[in-house]
Amino acid sequence: MTDLFHDAPFRNPSLSIEDRVADLLPRATLEELAWQVVQVAAGRPALPVHQEWAAKGVGSVLFVGGEELAALQATAAKTRLGIPLLAGIDAIHGHTLWAGATVYPTQLGLAAGWDTEAVKAVGRATAIEMVSTGLHWTFSPTLCRPRDLRWGRTGETFGEDQLLIAEMGAAMIAGYQGDRLDAPTSVAACPKHFIAYGDTVGGRDASECELSERTIRARYLRPFQVAVDAGAQTIMCAYQTVDGVAMSENHRWLTEILKGELRFEGLVVTDWECATRMVQQVKSAEDLDRAVVRCLKGGTDLFMAEPEAPAAILRQLAAGTLTRGDLERAAARVLAVKFRLGLFERPLVVGKPEDVLQAPAHRDLAHRTALGALTLLRNRDQLLPLEPRARRRIALIGPYADDPVVQAGDWNLGYKANQDLHRNRAHPRANSSTIRDGLERRLAAEGAVITYARGCGGVPMVPAHHHVPERRAQVTDDPAGEAHPERLAAAVRAAEAADLVVLVVGDPPDWDGEFCSTAHLRLPENQQRLYEAVRATGTPLVVILLCSKPLAIPEITDGAEALLVAFRPGQATGDAVAAVLCGDAEPLGRLPISFPRHVGQLPVAYDFHPASHGKVYVDDATLGYDRPLFAFGEGLGYERLRLVQPTLQHQNLPADTDQAVTLTVENPGIRTSSTVVQVYARLPVGPVSRPNRWLAAWARVTVEPGQRQSITIPIPRSRLAICDADGAWRLPPGAIEILVGTSSRDQDLQVLKGTVAQ
Ligand code: BGC
Repeated sequence: MTDLFHDAPFRNPSLSIEDRVADLLPRATLEELAWQVVQVAAGRPALPVHQEWAAKGVGSVLFVGGEELAALQATAAKTRLGIPLLAGIDAIHGHTLWAGATVYPTQLGLAAGWDTEAVKAVGRATAIEMVSTGLHWTFSPTLCRPRDLRWGRTGETFGEDQLLIAEMGAAMIAGYQGDRLDAPTSVAACPKHFIAYGDTVGGRDASECELSERTIRARYLRPFQVAVDAGAQTIMCAYQTVDGVAMSENHRWLTEILKGELRFEGLVVTDWECATRMVQQVKSAEDLDRAVVRCLKGGTDLFMAEPEAPAAILRQLAAGTLTRGDLERAAARVLAVKFRLGLFERPLVVGKPEDVLQAPAHRDLAHRTALGALTLLRNRDQLLPLEPRARRRIALIGPYADDPVVQAGDWNLGYKANQDLHRNRAHPRANSSTIRDGLERRLAAEGAVITYARGCGGVPMVPAHHHVPERRAQVTDDPAGEAHPERLAAAVRAAEAADLVVLVVGDPPDWDGEFCSTAHLRLPENQQRLYEAVRATGTPLVVILLCSKPLAIPEITDGAEALLVAFRPGQATGDAVAAVLCGDAEPLGRLPISFPRHVGQLPVAYDFHPASHGKVYVDDATLGYDRPLFAFGEGLGYERLRLVQPTLQHQNLPADTDQAVTLTVENPGIRTSSTVVQVYARLPVGPVSRPNRWLAAWARVTVEPGQRQSITIPIPRSRLAICDADGAWRLPPGAIEILVGTSSRDQDLQVLKGTVAQ
């Protein structure tokens, strides 16, 4: 088709985005507009159908890239208006659904590093790998904050603290979107899931959130405000209902608060088939026609995975329940994002993935961030780092010690049912180091003997997955928690013959992610039995908990000499673990989330509200909600750094002024070591109930042996404020306490008393 509009103002990149959108909108027919606000999913069904959709001018596709995407873009370019496709994918911790891409730790693993620069670098490296495959929109970062840790998506989050979430999220967005959105390596970010998706009843995925608007503002809104201020181009609404209203049609939250109050100018995309879900599950609409009307009126701009939506929209336009204005409002936002990304100028760019996937700088970053995902929580008698004598004969045991897929975490090729949507592609094995690879490589020159024994299987249960209900993950061995007696015996023999056992256990992929909330937070039965059998040998034991989220493991905490938590650290897991065990590097992680002792103790976050009749359960006094197994912020280095003389910059904080803390960090040890200095705030008296303490700032400090270092940590005033009864953030005058230390626990904190001036 000849290009009818090559001279049209909307094609002119020197005009403003507003002018280009204003020129294009009236040229579009109702049908073209209806297709523009819809996204279709590739993978299933097959691509020819996508070509039909592209020919109709569908606004967006997901899960397709490379040459296939280029073919769809070519079709889109030939449509009457030639509007390019917005092409999205879940590039969640790396371009993880693309075979060969660099795989970083999951968000929870990244958060454990408390390193926003590294997270920004992950975003940048991911964007570079994405654009080489033609994709320019990632459904990331997740800004949810888990409350009930049984929630299956806990590992997809940056943990339990909203400042950490906000800062990590902003860093990732800055990395994805780069300095200029229309630069060739920039991709649009999509903070999600708006809002309070991590606080559904009982941790049940996508059910009801029953919180008041004020509570949602107090706990969940700020990271989204920070994301909007950071320039996030798109935001995904959550699956669940808030106060009875599905988020995809929630006018109060999408239109009044997100677009109005927060001034979000990008596009709101629904989550997967949310309009259909309103019909089938929430039952707030009789049929798709009514659902799309309610969504568009509520504030949705783009329907994810809803190829039937255009027809429904057109029927409702004809019936008069929708107006062209309703549709233009949504389409304008979709088009504006496309213009800002520069897609009209270069929609077809597919680079050379082989030049950037696994680039040396990306591999180094994967290693560095994997070190951050490792949190040392027990180290009795300084067993770690291992002395050469302690590592001559190692028994490496456990179902995940040599598993490149499990360590890489969710939203990854090969992980659970993802393979179906992504046509059974896999990451090349050689890209990853498993713990077995890492130890064998690191210790080969020392002549150490490593005996590897799986001990038991790693796939104890097999739930169906929502996208592919007909398909089940493959059970490779030991179904239903049964330990294979021969395997267990071999593991015990290996443990008995060794100087040291390294046991790698954790939650299986089928207990991790969407549709995978768990009733318990324990290890699978067979892994628990493996731990007990290995422990009974008496050989010194290092447990590596390769987990998606916190597990309640008090007996391992008491039983193992050393405990290293590894939140699915990605492709470099093995080399990072080997470096830490052998003392080439310190574990850099500090917990971004509390560990409960028992599932019955939930919720157990550090920023609980202190007023209640007692803090423990009467049938088990160890289970107080202020007594986690491990607290937010906890984690050991290889030296005990001392925080000396923390001092407030302003004893009485004047109006309109920021606060700061100065202190000295001393390293009395023999190795270079680092710590994360954490600063919390607390109001002794305040007009509304509020958290017992909350994170206000942090800084990582690295100190040479025998040296000291002075630092000043700025505390923006806004971080001292509390969410008032009317939902506004205010800092009341009067007493305030600033707590400085190496974790959120009382015993790790020094209290500085100050005041806030009138
Ligand atoms: C998830 C989103 C994801 C989308 C596309 C949904 O089921 O909730 O987080 O971005 O699928 O894969």
